[in-house]
Amino acid sequence: MLLLLIGVILKISRSCAVDIANCPYEETVNLSNYASQENGSIFYQNIEITKAWQGYYDYEQYFNGVNVNVAMHLRGCVCKFKKCVKLCCQRSELINGNGQCITNIGANSSHSSDFIMITQTNGEFKKVDIFNHFIWQMGRPCNRVAQFHSTAQSNWSLLENGTLKIRRTEQSMYYTTRDYCLSQVYDDHGNEYTYEPFSCVILNPSWDVFIKKYAMLISIIFFIPTVLIYLGFKELHGNLGGKLLISYLISLTMSYSVICYINFTTGAISAPACLILGYAGYFFVRAAFFWLSILSFDIWRNIKENLQTGIKSHNKLYWLYSLLVWGVALLCTMLTALAEWSKIDSCWKPGIGTKHCWLDGKQKISSLQSL
Ligand SMILES: *[C@@H]1O[C@H](CO)[C@@H](O)[C@H](O)[C@H]1NC(C)=O
Ligand SMILES: *[C@@H]1O[C@H](CO)[C@@H](O)[C@H](O)[C@H]1NC(C)=O
Ligand SMILES: *[C@@H]1O[C@H](CO)[C@@H](O)[C@H](O)[C@H]1NC(C)=O
Ligand SMILES: *[C@@H]1O[C@H](CO)[C@@H](O)[C@H](O)[C@H]1NC(C)=O
Ligand SMILES: *[C@@H]1O[C@H](CO)[C@@H](O)[C@H](O)[C@H]1NC(C)=O
Repeated sequence: MLLLLIGVILKISRSCAVDIANCPYEETVNLSNYASQENGSIFYQNIEITKAWQGYYDYEQYFNGVNVNVAMHLRGCVCKFKKCVKLCCQRSELINGNGQCITNIGANSSHSSDFIMITQTNGEFKKVDIFNHFIWQMGRPCNRVAQFHSTAQSNWSLLENGTLKIRRTEQSMYYTTRDYCLSQVYDDHGNEYTYEPFSCVILNPSWDVFIKKYAMLISIIFFIPTVLIYLGFKELHGNLGGKLLISYLISLTMSYSVICYINFTTGAISAPACLILGYAGYFFVRAAFFWLSILSFDIWRNIKENLQTGIKSHNKLYWLYSLLVWGVALLCTMLTALAEWSKIDSCWKPGIGTKHCWLDGKQKISSLQSL
């Protein structure tokens, strides 16, 4: 509860960041260093970005959609107006074997070429000057980028719209500027510096994600028989403590099931299903939280009054507790839904069912940490 409160205070004390509407992250550039015109427009490589296409971001997005929190900064949606490519380093630099950006000594020589072969929509090839045909962004998709070498099994081509197509025998993949960058590379054979793509190795999902996913599943597998055993024996569910424990376990099992379902679904989840899962998950997480609180409260009460657990009056108390827990959990869910559907600024909205089925966080299961 304290954590939750601290979280809320932290969230409120930070100013409100809203993504630019209809603009995926990879189409934006950092505009911190660019001067604003009187009418609010900013020019980036001679492209005018009006106020409507600017927004404040408190994160950066990397390969495979990994978000990293950074200080709030202004970004503009420049790639909406002219297609972008991404350079790993400054225009006058190139990336070396250690992944560092170093001065490109060949940059202005006759051996250097700013031209690159692109594949047009009609399938034909065309040689274009990168800096005329594209807007360029700068940065790397991840810390340790590696050059993409064409082989018999896979080769790359840069599409007209700046998307990098990795053609493979089984299946082609498309990398946006979020996932690749270009750098000049010295080619011994041609004695020439040419632009080549770099990207990141797809790692297996990290261990903690894997463990979280399966730990939840295993928990569910053990919760269900526990609940059944408690329900089966009057000695166990006859007293108030048993009833409270069952209620807690049922809420926990339901919330874990929703989260597991979301995490194990590989394909897209339809919008209505997403909405229902999101709110159901939220409701049961809240209920589990309150049941646990009641359970603790009841233990404390028991110790205090030093009561022996008689069956008679406890049913009434259980119904009171139930009313309290389910009621408050429902109230929380309704308040959340109200916040979602009200007219407040979208950055204050919980975002259930919009970007993620779960609460709009960096991770699908982040809201569990408040438990
Ligand atoms: C944006 O650009 C400014 C100025 O170059 C720099 O100080 C800042 O770190 C950049 N922010 C991000 C998130 O790249
Ligand atoms: C904003 O001002 C700049 C420079 O003064 C001008 O080039 C541009 O057309 C203006 N844009 C709008 C939308 O008025
Ligand atoms: C190449 O030329 C640009 C200006 O045209 C200059 O800024 C840059 O330092 C030069 N690079 C090298 C390696 O000479
Ligand atoms: C590599 O690219 C060429 C066209 O440039 C294509 O004909 C060939 O099939 C590609 N190889 C693979 C494995 O996709
Ligand atoms: C670029 O073209 C490819 C192939 O037509 C398409 O899959 C991709 O979505 C396009 N990307 C953008 C940013 O328009």
